[in-house]
Amino acid sequence: MKHPESRPRRLRGSAAIRRLVRETHVSAAQMLQPVFVVEGDDVREPIAAMPGQYRYSVDACVAYCKRVSALGVGGILLFGVPGQKDDRASGAYARDGIVQRAVSAIREAVPGLLVMSDVCLCAYMSHGHCGVVRGEQIENDETLPLLAETAVSHAKAGADFVAPSDMMDGRVGAIRRALDDAGHYDVGIMSYAVKYASAFFGPFREAADSAPQFGDRRSYQMDPGNVREAVRLATMDADAGADIVMVKPAMPYLDVIARVREAVTLPVAAYQVSGEYAMIEAAAANGWIDREKAIDESLTAIRRAGADVVISYYAAEVAERLA
Ligand code: PBG
Ligand code: ZN
Repeated sequence: MKHPESRPRRLRGSAAIRRLVRETHVSAAQMLQPVFVVEGDDVREPIAAMPGQYRYSVDACVAYCKRVSALGVGGILLFGVPGQKDDRASGAYARDGIVQRAVSAIREAVPGLLVMSDVCLCAYMSHGHCGVVRGEQIENDETLPLLAETAVSHAKAGADFVAPSDMMDGRVGAIRRALDDAGHYDVGIMSYAVKYASAFFGPFREAADSAPQFGDRRSYQMDPGNVREAVRLATMDADAGADIVMVKPAMPYLDVIARVREAVTLPVAAYQVSGEYAMIEAAAANGWIDREKAIDESLTAIRRAGADVVISYYAAEVAERLA
């Protein structure tokens, strides 16, 4: 039917009809709030490149997680910022490491909150790379046992899901086997299956103090031009035992989210990363965009592209607004 018989504007004429026919919804339950944990007591340290985000000591983190849980946010994704680094990332899999202590404290104090933990080595390595370094090379297979040990240590502390973000080949299989061997067959894996070598991680590297000290991450993170490779990696991780596959960053890669959503039957997560957050905050602080509208539109777009789960620094704030 053509105009004048067909008038699409009828479905946009009032808030009531727009709400009735809206195709995509954002809800607190399908969002994860990233949380940075640091050493110390009663610490709530602002992250300069991410205004409104903080690094919490374990005690302060527990208090924050209670609020996040009460708001109905789907869960948290924990990142550790250790006091010390070395070239074996020993803090990543230490029994009393920063993430391990945070996980068990949260598990104990905030029952019912879904606790996921990032599994990577970069924040614990003196050189800042996500794997073991030989010369200038990032060694794949030598890294796998360290990642597996890290994942098992998080599971022992009580993590519901581990989220490997290192982009080494074969790590999902290695982690799955190690978790099963240790009896943690009920601990899930949310794989950062499709993670691009992105400029949009800049603010995070300040927050986690995890910038590489030489070179870059392009020999392990994906080339931004590729989408068939994304489908391949998501499919491989699904076959290797991932329970959720992630695409990251989110807004510059909406087409990738859509393609991965079609290719796998697992839940697909998308990570609205630190640089996406920082761009919205910076533009809003200058009065150049409407902050809340830009947040809602960005999250809606990520959901519309096909993300079942959205990891966002805005999760708690949006949950508060939706409540
Ligand atoms: C660690 C890791 C990074 C992010 C999540 N896990 C940084 C990186 O790979 O350099 C980025 C998150 C963000 O930018 O918000 N491998
Ligand atoms: Zn890393």
